Amino acid sequence: MLSQESLARVVANDRYNYRLSEIIRQRAWVEIDLSALSHNVMQIKQLLSPKTALMAVVKADAYGHGAIAVAQTVLQAGAKALAVATLGEGIELREAGIKAPILILGAINTPEEIAAIAHWQLEPTICYPEQAVMVSHTLSQLEQPLSVHLKLDTGMSRLGTLWHQGTELATLVQDLPYLNLSSVYSHLATADDPDPSQMYLQHKRFKMAIANLKAQGIQPPCLHFANSAATLIAPQLHYDLVRVGLALYGLYPAPHLRSIVPLKPVLQVRAKITQIKTIAANTGVSYGYQFISDRPMNIAVVGIGYADGVPRSLSNRLQVLIHGQRACQIGAITMDQLMLDVSHLRHVKVGDVVTLIGKDGDQEITADHWAKMLGTISWEILCGFKHRLPRIKHLKKRELGVNYPEVNIGIKDSEQVKT
Ligand SMILES: Cc1ncc(COP(=O)(O)O)c(C=O)c1O
Repeated sequence: MLSQESLARVVANDRYNYRLSEIIRQRAWVEIDLSALSHNVMQIKQLLSPKTALMAVVKADAYGHGAIAVAQTVLQAGAKALAVATLGEGIELREAGIKAPILILGAINTPEEIAAIAHWQLEPTICYPEQAVMVSHTLSQLEQPLSVHLKLDTGMSRLGTLWHQGTELATLVQDLPYLNLSSVYSHLATADDPDPSQMYLQHKRFKMAIANLKAQGIQPPCLHFANSAATLIAPQLHYDLVRVGLALYGLYPAPHLRSIVPLKPVLQVRAKITQIKTIAANTGVSYGYQFISDRPMNIAVVGIGYADGVPRSLSNRLQVLIHGQRACQIGAITMDQLMLDVSHLRHVKVGDVVTLIGKDGDQEITADHWAKMLGTISWEILCGFKHRLPRIKHLKKRELGVNYPEVNIGIKDSEQVKT
């Protein structure tokens, strides 16, 4: 069997006159609407004062949307900086030619990583004194100064120095050679909670920590605190920069934040029907016979499964859209395929497109629906779609005024469809 790469090569050589867009749509794929992404950037920017910049959080392959295309689009639409979780994610963006400042939010603990960060002009987060010393020592050996960002823990209890010890760390960073203190930041634990009291307690601690720094004569050039939820709901937390992830991708951190700006979901997941058959009453469907038909049924097999990121725990609970109508998934979701009850649908055939997440007609299924069924959050759903699903990018070229590179053949950046 041909691998996806071999198929791409076949298409590139045009030997069989296939179109890549048709081949990658044979089974299952993720569609990324870059125009929606751009729209979301502009909506978020409207909430910010001119002195507040937008940092787009593009970690985890831009929450599963494809980091390079997302980074290019958000920068074009007005974001000023990017944030990633890991060194590898930062390098991927630099290798793609992205020049914007890139903050690494995650932990960096070794001189090797710092050497790579310096080489790629990325910007690390400093969380504790020993790390600051290690970073400074490594940079001294390289004789290369670097912008660093100091992280305060004001209540998330994750990375960062405790807020009331912030002055000691900031003083150390200021005194150590080759470290340029570029910003001081903190991260909110409960900004999406309808009860804002914990968020405001964290804010109080942040303000006190900053006041302490200033009392020692330390003036951080940039302060940042807000994630998507705080950006939507709390302008007093915007400071010089907001770090927005989820809202860029068109989802709201919580239902009570929906009315603030109209966002458009960027990601849609689709697959094709690969076989249709009629089964008799009392027939078991899929592994373990978790579903047994109570009547003769028309069922459709669809080419997507848990290895693509459709959780097996949604078995017998998932709904999909076909021709703008809902259909129920039946039996256990398998690694590469799942089955649907299509008894109520007329004219369903092999090759028809099934929408798992996204719009079809006036029906819509969102990552929020899946998250609710699974007892999780939409962030996890978005990040769960595997690279086996090609990402197909749509953009309205005229609307964006973006000049995108030609179609990129490969699994991650498989195609851009200009509409
Ligand atoms: C430090 C930090 N800032 C900002 C964000 C963005 O959060 P959100 O996706 O809620 O906007 C994250 C995401 O987890 C983060 O870890």
